[in-house]
Amino acid sequence: MRCKLCRKKAIYAPLRFCEEHFLAYYEKKVGKYFQSTHARNVKILIGISGGKDSSALVDVLNKIKDEYGLELGLFTINLQIPDYSEKGLEVGKELAKKYNLPLIIEDLKDHAKQIPAFAGEKMKPCSQCGVIKRYLLNKAAVDNGYDYLATGHNLDDEFFVAMHNLIHRNVDQLRRQQKILPPKPKNKLAGRVKPLYYLTEKENRLYCLLKGIPHDVDECPFSHDNPQIKFKLKHAWFSKDDKKSLLKSVIKLQEPHKEVEEGEAAGQLHDCPSCGFPTTSKDECVYCKVMKN
Ligand code: FES
Ligand code: ZN
Ligand code: ZN
Repeated sequence: MRCKLCRKKAIYAPLRFCEEHFLAYYEKKVGKYFQSTHARNVKILIGISGGKDSSALVDVLNKIKDEYGLELGLFTINLQIPDYSEKGLEVGKELAKKYNLPLIIEDLKDHAKQIPAFAGEKMKPCSQCGVIKRYLLNKAAVDNGYDYLATGHNLDDEFFVAMHNLIHRNVDQLRRQQKILPPKPKNKLAGRVKPLYYLTEKENRLYCLLKGIPHDVDECPFSHDNPQIKFKLKHAWFSKDDKKSLLKSVIKLQEPHKEVEEGEAAGQLHDCPSCGFPTTSKDECVYCKVMKN
């Protein structure tokens, strides 16, 4: 098979691109994200797990940072998961060195609980892990003066979340599923960006492999039977265009409610009496509750 643009050997069948044109396509998609969201001249803290998505994100943002005026930093958490967290941490250090970017490391051994403490015989620690990661990412960004947090969420992740919310009638969560959320410094909330929004898992993996970007191929040991992974396998027949179309419909559904929702969300926020970070609950935030129970 030949590249549809230059007739060299194609290395990516779905789009028929050679290596050079695949890399150009990939960078263009991330550029398109910044053009469509108007995020310019901002400080971005990139949350890295050691996996392919966040590693690809570091490389591509580093490549386009001057064009969009981005000041970058890296953040990773040692979740203290045996045989897994150490590797992610090493990838974080390698990325910081390779791209000469500042790295903030948070270690759960300095906190009341570590991830394995939430695992039981039949219980997975994934939901508590998600709470802890979201909280610490936001805290690191706010405490260190970053405007936005960037995560490696890709088109497949976003598609799963949208389908899940549609199927389970989570209308509020569906409305909050935005591709960018603005910072709210008064509420101690960093903004959110997902620059890989238009790219698939496969494309992120290929980008890492072609560019020799350090990343860990192991999955979290708690991720077997993960509903998201099962869903992705079961619905692998959805095309990339189907996924993009569904997300565009979600964005259209959100339009008339956007300002109302943002106003409402800001009005519902209170300071957690224990840590001072924002929460929608009347008492302690969910992070403080998780760490105490
Ligand atoms: Fe958090 Fe697996 S990465 S439980
Ligand atoms: Zn080509
Ligand atoms: Zn709290």
